[in-house]
Amino acid sequence: MGKFMIEGPIKLDGEVKTSGSKNSALPIMAASILSSGEVTLRNIPDLGDVRTMIDILSSVGFRVDFKNNVLNIKKAGEIDSSVPYELVSKMRASFNVLGPLAVVNGEATVALPGGCSIGVRPVDFHIEGLKKLGFEVKQEHGFVTAKKLKADRDTINIYLKYPSVGTTEHLMTTAALLGGTKTILNNVALEPEIVDLQNFLNSMGARITGAGTSTIMIEGVKELTGTDYFIIPDRIEAGTFIIAMLASGGSGTIKNIIPSHLNALFEKLTEMGAKFEISENSKKVRIFPNDLAKMNGTKIDVEPYPGFPTDLQPQMMVLLSLINSKSVIVENVFKSRFLHVDELKRMGAHIDVKGNTAIIDGGVKYTGAPVQATDIRASAALVIAAICAEGVSIINKIEHIFRGYEKVIEKFRNLGAKIEYLHD
Ligand code: UD1
Repeated sequence: MGKFMIEGPIKLDGEVKTSGSKNSALPIMAASILSSGEVTLRNIPDLGDVRTMIDILSSVGFRVDFKNNVLNIKKAGEIDSSVPYELVSKMRASFNVLGPLAVVNGEATVALPGGCSIGVRPVDFHIEGLKKLGFEVKQEHGFVTAKKLKADRDTINIYLKYPSVGTTEHLMTTAALLGGTKTILNNVALEPEIVDLQNFLNSMGARITGAGTSTIMIEGVKELTGTDYFIIPDRIEAGTFIIAMLASGGSGTIKNIIPSHLNALFEKLTEMGAKFEISENSKKVRIFPNDLAKMNGTKIDVEPYPGFPTDLQPQMMVLLSLINSKSVIVENVFKSRFLHVDELKRMGAHIDVKGNTAIIDGGVKYTGAPVQATDIRASAALVIAAICAEGVSIINKIEHIFRGYEKVIEKFRNLGAKIEYLHD
């Protein structure tokens, strides 16, 4: 483990280019297992989680080359359909290889992803869905085995209890190669990454419609070919830099974004009176210098897309605590995702958590302090707070940030941040 040493306060200033989406890259890489040919993926961010997925694909028998954000994936021989605990425990998204491996090989075993610092994250929806798709699923000794039974139904109808992102992606991918079976998924997640996955699968010859709405229809095919596909920009990374720039009182441009993917954030910022300008055509947003003392507090309901994203909640909390007003955040996705609160309090924040609600007393002047990062987005929130804080902050266990942010030190330094990486 290493740490960041950050000296503030600094007004971030300049331009930053958004990388490819982590949450698109991971399910698309898992879905590449279905291809009988070579898959080339472009705009793939070089991140810890992408490296973990590369290790998983390599461990089951794929040849994977990754250079200059271009990833090539090709079968290198027999596929070994068992994924060990060491790889799955690093990242929950690795569970999404279970269905694709089982559909290609007839049977697959993947370790349970286990606990996670942002709250309980079971895989019951995934397992229930795979059973409905015609797999026999057994859970034993910390592993889940899925075995493909003969698919003898023409149509399978599945209603998700909750629009889970991972479950929608897992079932949609697995059903794509159930030749002769039509699957209808209802109450699915609406995230842009699901549309990206549909476009990717269709580029290999899948027949899927409806992603981005609450019903997805999949006409299973017998074979999926190779493809060359360019993935969407990372809306969470973009949102993180937008919030960081605003919180620091700085100004500049966040480039390579799809503005509509960030509507929930832009709506809140407008309501708060933030000054910024979106350019749809040139895919960028310009942040003007803002006087935080004149901005309004707000209430944020964290919800599945198109609601306010849980992955921007910790970063937004930092901005809200700097505004001269009271704000409320209700976290409805990961109801106990507040581990960053105690760390922000060490730096001077006034935040009171009751159940899944955080009440933020604004007008805080952050001061540098030793703190500890607990997950990817909490790390980003602490970096923003440290940039805004008077003095030096040490953010311990900072490794989490490298799982989700490409060239994060370089990008923040280019905006003027004083940030050093220290090895333990
Ligand atoms: C994905 C994102 C993650 C984001 C989250 C919510 C990826 C790789 N990760 O995670 O960054 O924070 O969406 O936007 O895309 N649940 C169950 N049982 C299940 C599955 C989920 O109870 O089988 C619950 C979870 O505990 C959570 C909620 O459903 O409370 C949402 O989880 P889900 O949408 O599945 O998130 P992920 O796909 O894991």
